[in-house]
Amino acid sequence: MQPIIQSIHHGAKAGADACRLFHGRGHCHPGLEFISVDWFAPVLLISLYKEPNAEWLAQLSREITQFDHQPEIANIILQHRYMAGAPSESLKGKLEGDYYAQERGLKFRLNFKANQNAGFFLDMANCRQVLREHVKGKSVLNLFAYTCAFSVVAAEAGAAQVVNVDMAKGALNTGRTNHQCNNIDTRGVSFLGHDIFKSWGKIRRYGPYDMVIIDPPSFQAGSFNVMKDYQKIVRKLPGLLSPQAQVIACLNSPDLSFSFLRELFADARGFVEKQLIATPASFPEVDAEKGLKTLLFETSREA
Ligand SMILES: C[S@@+](CC[C@H](N)C(=O)[O-])C[C@H]1O[C@@H](n2cnc3c(N)ncnc32)[C@H](O)[C@@H]1O
Repeated sequence: MQPIIQSIHHGAKAGADACRLFHGRGHCHPGLEFISVDWFAPVLLISLYKEPNAEWLAQLSREITQFDHQPEIANIILQHRYMAGAPSESLKGKLEGDYYAQERGLKFRLNFKANQNAGFFLDMANCRQVLREHVKGKSVLNLFAYTCAFSVVAAEAGAAQVVNVDMAKGALNTGRTNHQCNNIDTRGVSFLGHDIFKSWGKIRRYGPYDMVIIDPPSFQAGSFNVMKDYQKIVRKLPGLLSPQAQVIACLNSPDLSFSFLRELFADARGFVEKQLIATPASFPEVDAEKGLKTLLFETSREA
């Protein structure tokens, strides 16, 4: 319990930018693998991935009361992700109005009530930064766009065009909101609410692309199976890319390692690995191969 309470103290001093405060899932804290704590100022979100015993939960609730008079933390939410629908309860404060994750001067709408994921992936912070550094003047394809955080960053950093594709139309609507609330001109931004595997024609029409982001789930019933579907995407890339293009490839599955991604791009030919994009230090992993894996590839001139 102590490391969790300590992380909440850090949250109170963390400032405006969203961050992970405690990452039990990286297995660096034996016995606490089922818990993560995130800071979305002024909201602190505790997520439980396994049902804790009643005594542990009662102790957590008791200890949380020490933050009752901590003004920086307006809300403490406990989310039971192991339960159907991932319900949340409030340990401090009442949720009302709109909430946002903040990162480097941009904001992203959150929803703590209805969704398993609040709407913004903290572990992608370094990918967003790499994108920001490379994207000026480029045409970008954001596959598995979700709430379009990559698109907001790309458009704000001067991308010429961004095409977002995700079959979850509600998430894309939040994506539109995310552009509006950052005063981003969306004339060069498209939102395609389609299954990627049934929409290559449409996607190709907006191309060619100088930058592609591939950030799929590891598994989504009927929509994505990493073992057979990632390869299909990498094989489509040559027909979508401009001659000098970059690809940010993300892999979330704990059972697959960096070599899975490297082999897919080696088989596709014409790519060189440029950079391993490290996961933020706030996501420590005993075994880095089990955490998020992200590589930046470029098309090779010799191809
Ligand atoms: C891990 S999230 C992407 C997170 C996003 N890149 C970000 O940084 O916020 C995965 C997304 O893939 C979408 N998805 C899964 N299978 C899909 C498919 N076959 N076609 C389109 N979208 C799909 C889901 O709707 C979900 O929004």
